[in-house]
Amino acid sequence: DWTSESFIDEQIQSIREKVGDDKVLCALSGGVDSTVVATLIHKAIGDQLQCVFVDNGLLRKNEFESVLDLYTQDLHLPVKGVDASKLFLDRLTGISDPEEKRKIIGNTFIDVFEEEIGDDADFKYLAQGTLYPDVIESVSFKGPSATIKSHHNVGGLPEKMKLDLIEPVRELFKDEVREVGRTLGIPDHFIGRHPFPGPGLGIRVLGELSEDRLNLLREADYIFVEELKEQNLYNDVWQALAVLLPVQSVGVMGDERTYEFTIALRAVTSLDGMTADWSHLPYEFLAHVSNRIINEIKGINRVVYDISSKPPATIEWE
Ligand code: XMP
Repeated sequence: DWTSESFIDEQIQSIREKVGDDKVLCALSGGVDSTVVATLIHKAIGDQLQCVFVDNGLLRKNEFESVLDLYTQDLHLPVKGVDASKLFLDRLTGISDPEEKRKIIGNTFIDVFEEEIGDDADFKYLAQGTLYPDVIESVSFKGPSATIKSHHNVGGLPEKMKLDLIEPVRELFKDEVREVGRTLGIPDHFIGRHPFPGPGLGIRVLGELSEDRLNLLREADYIFVEELKEQNLYNDVWQALAVLLPVQSVGVMGDERTYEFTIALRAVTSLDGMTADWSHLPYEFLAHVSNRIINEIKGINRVVYDISSKPPATIEWE
């Protein structure tokens, strides 16, 4: 039978054998999966591990600072925070196709990692928190035509990058990764975090990105998630998110006409992210969140709730 303890022992053993005296760069995303991977590898090889946590300009409100704090203060990981937000946002300017956005984001991450490694030839490995469902949905067994979304963290590294991948949780599902994380002593409030995609808010502002649109989304997402936590609903859903629709509609505020954007709220229940049902959140809750978003965020005058399940919809909108 699978237990997190035996999984950890086996992985520590095999990571040590594989890495020898070399160094590993671990890309932390702020999510549970990569955090578990970094903690596991740190246990195995100590200071031969170096982590980077990149601010790609697509993170949620306050996320970079608060997660960096957790990494250093609580988990004592050797991590360097890198602010690359300008680079990411520059490269994404004018791009509206979802797959193109994903590819640009994935490639830019690689460029930032390479920059971090510089000419230190001891770095031989890149560690990532790829999960089994990421592998299935991205590099479909049926070939590229059946790919649903190119998860930026799946599909290998570009030829020119001379690093081998280490993906210790590649065969696990999310609930198993959480179990491993708990056994490794990662705090519960962090283990319970909803999944967050590598391309971040970049695929939640539909179409072309801008600093302004990202900020509108950031505020809406913050209100939604804060209220879920406040009302003890956060742990009842697999994932909750806000999406900024690049659609303007007419509204009225006081006696002024408004012509502003729409926020779509999405919350789903799921076991592994591969199929999902929309969450039947209480109407009063949705009404409260909608009121707060429209009253507090200038630039949003309409909120809708996504009632599609996966399939045929996906969880993210891009
Ligand atoms: P979809 O939208 O495909 O999402 O139903 C399923 C789960 O995967 C997450 N997701 C990603 N995670 N890189 C990631 O690390 C990605 O490119 C990516 N795309 C989607 C999504 O948030 C959901 O939990």
